[in-house]
Amino acid sequence: MTALVFLDPDFPAGRISDAATAQLSVLDQGVTRGDGIFESALYTRQVVRKLDAHLARLRVSASVCDLTVPHEEAWRAAIDTAVAQFDAAGGAEEAVVKLVATRGTEGTSIGTCWVTVSPAPALGRAQRETGISVLLLDRGYDSGIAERAPWLLMGAKTLSYAVNMAALRHAKKQGADDVIFVSSDGIVLEGPTSTVLLAHRDRDIKRLITPTLETGILPGTTQGAIFTAAKAAGWELGYGPLTPEHLLDADALWLVSSVRLLTPVNSVDGTQIARDAQLHAELTAMVDAIA
Ligand SMILES: Cc1ncc(COP(=O)(O)O)c(C=O)c1O
Repeated sequence: MTALVFLDPDFPAGRISDAATAQLSVLDQGVTRGDGIFESALYTRQVVRKLDAHLARLRVSASVCDLTVPHEEAWRAAIDTAVAQFDAAGGAEEAVVKLVATRGTEGTSIGTCWVTVSPAPALGRAQRETGISVLLLDRGYDSGIAERAPWLLMGAKTLSYAVNMAALRHAKKQGADDVIFVSSDGIVLEGPTSTVLLAHRDRDIKRLITPTLETGILPGTTQGAIFTAAKAAGWELGYGPLTPEHLLDADALWLVSSVRLLTPVNSVDGTQIARDAQLHAELTAMVDAIA
């Protein structure tokens, strides 16, 4: 079951709609051009996790794309209505809360905004235990592109995910589960739907490292929350630039995201990666505690 609520000034708590029937204009630029932004948050144990961070990133994405989106209270009200609808219809242990804002129908200046709540995919949950195999794929940009070409909207969470989905299909055809993009100058970027995180342990010193945001990758809310928790627990934190060799040298490597959480990487381009069980257990406990 998917719950659907549109943000609508005539409905302060949001306009409840039927996700199984047509709702959007075929002229909506979110459809015709992929021109819009989105967020995906995890809803579990009656909490939409890291909602403040998701709403903050939605605001940044809107600003990068010159999109006007409703104020935060309208989003919160629509989310409350949508999760209540979802729970009333039976709910699920874990669900994806998706916020979408498009540029709206061509010729108007009013965007189209909605919230859906649907059960979280089972595969992502299973992969938290099994781990995944990953291919390194060329993103086709160099690591300095974000500064040179702001019109590429690097760092915004736009609806234009066709390339990300194509990369995942490519990996699956090669027998791999997921992808880590690498810039044309050999710098590790991110997964198509996730942030890269690696750890090192040197006696009592534990260090977490993630690629630098200067490459134009999406600032991950999960990575941000894990870093905050890890810092409080005494870990050292570091930001790239990282190369593929750094991935292979790690004591543990993960892809992290709001819905899949902490997914261990078993291999990169067929080379086995160390899986430090203690580091994994500690980070899993931190991720579980994120609210
Ligand atoms: C390209 C990309 N990078 C990173 C992430 C991880 O972001 P978050 O942890 O906020 O879900 C996502 C999430 O979907 C993503 O699409």
